[in-house]
Amino acid sequence: MQNWTIRKIREAKNTTPLATITAYDAITGRLADDAGAALILVGDSLGTTALGFSTTIPVTMEIMLHHVAAVRRSVHNAVVVADMPFLSYQTSTETAIRNAGRLMQEAGADAVKLEGGAIRADLIRTLVDNGIPVMAHIGVLPQSVKTSGYAAQGGTAAENDRLKADALAVAEAGVFCTVLECVRENTARELTACSPVPTIGIGSGIHCDGQIIVIADLLGLTTPPLPKFVKPYAQCGTTAQAAIEAYIADVHQRTYPDAEHSYQ
Ligand code: KIV
Repeated sequence: MQNWTIRKIREAKNTTPLATITAYDAITGRLADDAGAALILVGDSLGTTALGFSTTIPVTMEIMLHHVAAVRRSVHNAVVVADMPFLSYQTSTETAIRNAGRLMQEAGADAVKLEGGAIRADLIRTLVDNGIPVMAHIGVLPQSVKTSGYAAQGGTAAENDRLKADALAVAEAGVFCTVLECVRENTARELTACSPVPTIGIGSGIHCDGQIIVIADLLGLTTPPLPKFVKPYAQCGTTAQAAIEAYIADVHQRTYPDAEHSYQ
């Protein structure tokens, strides 16, 4: 099993496709790590999956610290990246350094992720200069959904130029990789070609250096309608529901616990 480091992630560009998965607790962290993920992101998507919020906006630093620490305890090979939640890095550089530091020092993250391109370049440079590895996130930005929405990005010359400027600005500021969320396939191919660090796509087509998927989507635990790019690799939701119904039936019929599952 490969022991991934920030340096190895960087060096994987043009050599090894980077399989990245989100995880929110020790169980999903262990599953992703044992399966060989290079990067495990404790995404603020935990708000819209595990916590039942309709957006990622309500996710706080305290929530992230709790979940990053849980994932950290079960991950031994992948690089653990902690998402910086809404307003944990936008208000001042000092607040951002302190919060990124907490995610590493208190919860054990190897790196942090924050949303935004050129607008975040100075902050990224400061974090990296202070020893905090940063993953960038451009394209659709879920923390800005109230102002920008979820529409796929790229395709027009103006949008392509803006995304290219973002990808180059964050790379120049020192990120070790960049998430491209819902960027049209041809644009993502151009961004991947011009970015000196790996691009990790979600809804951005096949030409990125790696891919990321939300673990609940991968396992078939989320309910339709699913975004176009989601491919469930299993139907764990259906299997889990059937198991729970079987247990309830056994309890009602007094057939669980049987002799095998009782202390005699
Ligand atoms: O929060 C998250 O899971 C993310 C990924 C979808 C990139 O930001």
